[in-house]
Amino acid sequence: MGLELFIKQIRSLGRKVPFNRLRHARLSHLLAEMFLEGYPKGLIITLNEEELEGNLTLKELSKKRWMVTKPDKGLTWGLEITGDTFIKKAASYNIFNHQKSILEIGIGGGRLLKAVLDLNILFKRYVGIDTSAENINFLKDQLKGEKFSFIRGDAESIHLDEKFDIVLSSLTFKHFFPSFKKCLFNVAKYMNHNAIIFFDLREGNLKYFEPDGTYIHRYTRSEVCKILEECGFRLIRFDSVTHAKGYERLLVIAKLDKTA
Ligand SMILES: C[S@@+](CC[C@H](N)C(=O)[O-])C[C@H]1O[C@@H](n2cnc3c(N)ncnc32)[C@H](O)[C@@H]1O
Repeated sequence: MGLELFIKQIRSLGRKVPFNRLRHARLSHLLAEMFLEGYPKGLIITLNEEELEGNLTLKELSKKRWMVTKPDKGLTWGLEITGDTFIKKAASYNIFNHQKSILEIGIGGGRLLKAVLDLNILFKRYVGIDTSAENINFLKDQLKGEKFSFIRGDAESIHLDEKFDIVLSSLTFKHFFPSFKKCLFNVAKYMNHNAIIFFDLREGNLKYFEPDGTYIHRYTRSEVCKILEECGFRLIRFDSVTHAKGYERLLVIAKLDKTA
């Protein structure tokens, strides 16, 4: 089916499909064709992990989406949402003090960091990584000083020059294609002995692309446990974090188990 006909069909179903944002014609076409299968949720993925891992086109599509994000509320469902609930929940585990170095994955516009500062959370260093140059430049302009570093890079492959005691990540792990395993495996290299990680996920059993190219993976708890174990982590607890009304997420808390 041609792209034009496809868009016409989708429009007739009453949903706006921003295909013009996908400038790469081949990807648009691919997405269009596959999106058909899964309407209205987007492109539903039914391939297994191994088949997905090797699908470079879909991998590229999932990453491309995040190269150009801006530090605005588009990162949080179009809503102004503070990072307070996430940071308060992490603080309830007594993890923060002035000797701890923090790494944040997918720092976006600094929502969690702002909460850390507003809530007077103690820390030694705060390093944020993100694939979007605009997010990183924004944070570099906002916060200067030895305590902070903001680095443009891909969490799945980035090389860092230091190790951390605490790793935080919100609203990001669900976007790693095909799963967060590669990211966790890489980040583990930069975690100190007994370091702890907090990340949130959408619970469920579904993988799909939204029409604008956003990849979303909803995880079952057993899927999470399997990946943690494969990457050398020990689950501390499944908790929950409510970002805003209607936006409750599974919070995964795990420790790097160097003996694993
Ligand atoms: C939905 S936003 C959430 C931003 C922020 N964590 C928050 O809670 O407000 C996801 C962020 O992860 C970043 N991101 C996506 N894939 C990434 C990757 N492979 N490595 C580093 N950052 C990534 C995106 O650029 C984006 O800023």
